[in-house]
Amino acid sequence: MDRIERLLGEMTLAEKLGQMTMVASGYAVTGPVIVGDSTESIRAGTLGNLLNMVGVGHVNEMQRLAVEESRLGIPLLIGLDIIHGHRTLFPIPLMQAAAFDAAAWERAAHEAATEACADGLALTFAPMLDVARDPRWGRSAEGAGEDPWLTARMAAAKVRGFQGASLDSAHALAACAKHFCAYGAMTAGRDYAAVDVSDRALREVYLPPFEAAVKAGVATLMPAFTDIAGVPMTAHRALLQGTLRGEWGFDGVVISDYNAIAELIRHGVAADLTDAAVLALKAGVDIDMMADAYRKGLPKALEQGRVTMAEIDTAVRRVLRLKQQLGLFDDPYRRGAQPEPTAVLAERHRFARAFAARCAVLLENRAKTLPLPANLQRLAVIGPLADADAEMRGPWWGAGEFAPHVGVLQGLRANLPGVELRHTVGVAVTGSEAGDDADDGKEDVQGGIALAAALCDDADAVILCLGESSTMSGEARCRAEPGLPGHQLELARAVIARAHTHGKRVVAILFSGRPLVIPWLAEQADAVLWAGFLGTEAGNALADLLVGRVSPSGRIAMTWPRSVGQIPLHYAQRSGGRPENPADHYTSQYLDMPNAPLYPFGHGLSYTHFSYANPRVTPQHVRRGDSCTARVEVTNDGACAARETVFLFIHDVVASVARPLLELKGAATVELEPGETRTVEIRVDAEALCFPGLDLRPTWEAGDVDVWLGPCADRMKLLKTTIQLQA
Ligand code: BGC
Repeated sequence: MDRIERLLGEMTLAEKLGQMTMVASGYAVTGPVIVGDSTESIRAGTLGNLLNMVGVGHVNEMQRLAVEESRLGIPLLIGLDIIHGHRTLFPIPLMQAAAFDAAAWERAAHEAATEACADGLALTFAPMLDVARDPRWGRSAEGAGEDPWLTARMAAAKVRGFQGASLDSAHALAACAKHFCAYGAMTAGRDYAAVDVSDRALREVYLPPFEAAVKAGVATLMPAFTDIAGVPMTAHRALLQGTLRGEWGFDGVVISDYNAIAELIRHGVAADLTDAAVLALKAGVDIDMMADAYRKGLPKALEQGRVTMAEIDTAVRRVLRLKQQLGLFDDPYRRGAQPEPTAVLAERHRFARAFAARCAVLLENRAKTLPLPANLQRLAVIGPLADADAEMRGPWWGAGEFAPHVGVLQGLRANLPGVELRHTVGVAVTGSEAGDDADDGKEDVQGGIALAAALCDDADAVILCLGESSTMSGEARCRAEPGLPGHQLELARAVIARAHTHGKRVVAILFSGRPLVIPWLAEQADAVLWAGFLGTEAGNALADLLVGRVSPSGRIAMTWPRSVGQIPLHYAQRSGGRPENPADHYTSQYLDMPNAPLYPFGHGLSYTHFSYANPRVTPQHVRRGDSCTARVEVTNDGACAARETVFLFIHDVVASVARPLLELKGAATVELEPGETRTVEIRVDAEALCFPGLDLRPTWEAGDVDVWLGPCADRMKLLKTTIQLQA
């Protein structure tokens, strides 16, 4: 009999339920305290999993209790949210997406896994695969943005990066695909709010990234807090048992979200904890994170005959199997056995810097404001996010709070040694934050702004660092007005007016975990560079871009609206019967603004200009099973080497179901020297041209499909060629 079956045979009910329970520990952060009676439970064998521990010493101490002092010696599974780095932080996922580079996504996950493993951890609650089309939602920061194709690519890359070739490696973390599913479609962009999406949207938009993670071998999955049409995901049998386990064959561990099983009561589908535990178990949730519903509710449910021991054993078996796959039974201390050599850390920081520079997006660059001229003598660096090293981390910093991070001012100091930098904050990030006026604890807004404007007078150029603080995005960080917070717009108006009076250029660097609604700034600043949150090396990477050592190449993975009223706004809209037409009143449009966004999906400038020519696709007559190759010639018409991302969108012209006007099916990046032309190739399998038909099954319909190639999701900037799908 194998180890798992033998253990199952020996385990008491309490021990089994312990394996199905995960609790948080404030151990390393707040001192040697684990919430409640956990230390005792670990010894008693009635707690099998922990989250939120930092520090290999503490991790090993807890592991020792489980392995040496509990009756059966089953090792603990210990997890943490390692979302965009552990100690070395990489750009937030929304910015990583902007690089359109699966190899870099994988590498960042692998580096994070290596650091986390050195801390003794074995599980991360990542990647987040929620397609996000509403910038009010703070968790937009955690995923790859609005597009299912892109999110699915990131899903596979992150799973490969975290898990590596084998889970039992000392550098591998079990990944967790979350939050299954359609969490990003919550009402009005408000976290945790109800979701009502069509089966078509599920099939086309929200499920594909999870299916990609399952195909890539993801070890665990987390249901979303939210419901779909009244069925909370934690109890969603059709999607968890039917689609996930049945259709896709996922046999890994399903871990509830934090306290989500107990929240079935608040949802109004369970009367008490026992009810909630029954619903979650029947839906196939194996581990109860933080609700303690399984330990408290399942003994009674079992007695009442509402669940069976076989159902409990199925969950326990999956948990034990994961621990075995992670190599925890053979050597529970394999992770964290060796500290990382300094050379590895230095190389990781080099990668973090280069990657961060690839993730920033140049939104505007009028009259070649950037790169900064080489003869610069004095630079005014203004704004609440200029000298804000810790803010560079972004919303999920893992164990990164213990590491130093490089802010803009620090980065400029290190990279522009001959330039005099003059800095003032101007205003606080949000108006409600404590300001500079120590007398009454309130911010002296007008004084701060006047000081900032005065700094422009004898500067050669102005860098204005604006946006959100790192904790204004992430979980439970929704904003009804996702513009510049506090008094920052006033600051920008004053600084830009003053600088322009003296003929000085203003570069705005924007920090945020979401697209910001900034129509005025976009028009008035001479250049706008979106940094999002770039992590540990942010300041160095931004300096590389500002001075032109690197040409920007990031592309937004989420549409930027010009007004909150346009939200939700994404590129993959369907035409409808009355598409926008300013000449025709009865068409789909606003009275007070165009439908077009401020920046479309894929937008992002560089320090050069690229032109496109000669788009073609072979074969032109496509049969199922074919592999198509699209080609387009791209020329760098400018004076510096740069990287261009080429997108391939399709539009199925006539189908049984109206199709989106553009659907992303491929992307490729190319680096071109000045004057160089190259033919960029993008391969697309014919199967990818199938779509959920009238019966929601993948269907292949003969007819014309337009293929659009070019730099972003704006038809005016794309070149079209048409292929024919054969019956
Ligand atoms: C979040 C999850 C996270 C979990 C554990 C929850 O509040 O929704 O994304 O993994 O906490 O920290």
